Amino acid sequence: MIDVKYLGHSCFQITAGAVRILTDPFLTGNPYAAVTADKVDANYILVSHGHSDHVGDTESIAKRTGATIIGSIDLTGALFKNLNTLPCNIGGRVSLPFGAIKLTPAIHGSGVPGALASGFILSIRDEESAGIVKKIYFAGDTALTKDMELLAEEHLDLAMLPIGDVFTMGAADAARAAKMIGAAMTIPMHYHTFPFIDQDPKLFCNLCQRNSIPVTALDPGDSITV
Ligand code: NI
Ligand code: MN
Repeated sequence: MIDVKYLGHSCFQITAGAVRILTDPFLTGNPYAAVTADKVDANYILVSHGHSDHVGDTESIAKRTGATIIGSIDLTGALFKNLNTLPCNIGGRVSLPFGAIKLTPAIHGSGVPGALASGFILSIRDEESAGIVKKIYFAGDTALTKDMELLAEEHLDLAMLPIGDVFTMGAADAARAAKMIGAAMTIPMHYHTFPFIDQDPKLFCNLCQRNSIPVTALDPGDSITV
């Protein structure tokens, strides 16, 4: 089993055996963060783009844990020069001890000149389930795009989608994305943290359920297993 714990905003801790993967660890300054940055453990930190609500505590966590930072090479080269980073870019797939990671396009600014914003598809070998590979899509910050239809071919076990509107997809577009993607489970993220994006996830969940898309809104600190 793979445990996926929501730490708030776009930060998730994915635990598979001894492997700990953290996404966009914006904890310091997030009023709803489930943990403080000095308490979180990571072997890998995925950074979707250079905005402060995604880079967050990446540097301090990577320094303390020795985690490898994964993001587009233009982003990691600019922001994390003296830390462990994995060279990769959008469209590319990299094999890792736990499985593989692929960077997906995201329609969003990156905050770093020359770098593109990305999402990630994680393929994680579940050693507790006879080595079955579980696939998780973390969208990062993005607009709705028809290219998301391609993700249906990935047969995803889980998708995390931004729903906060204003800076990313809102509930209606995110529900359209969820329908196109057709993951076995979808979790909303990137809402409620700031007044600008203070959305109630119920609207997104209701729209998904109307299309028979399995969906769960997690409160910070809550987990699901994949
Ligand atoms: Ni952003
Ligand atoms: Mn953001």
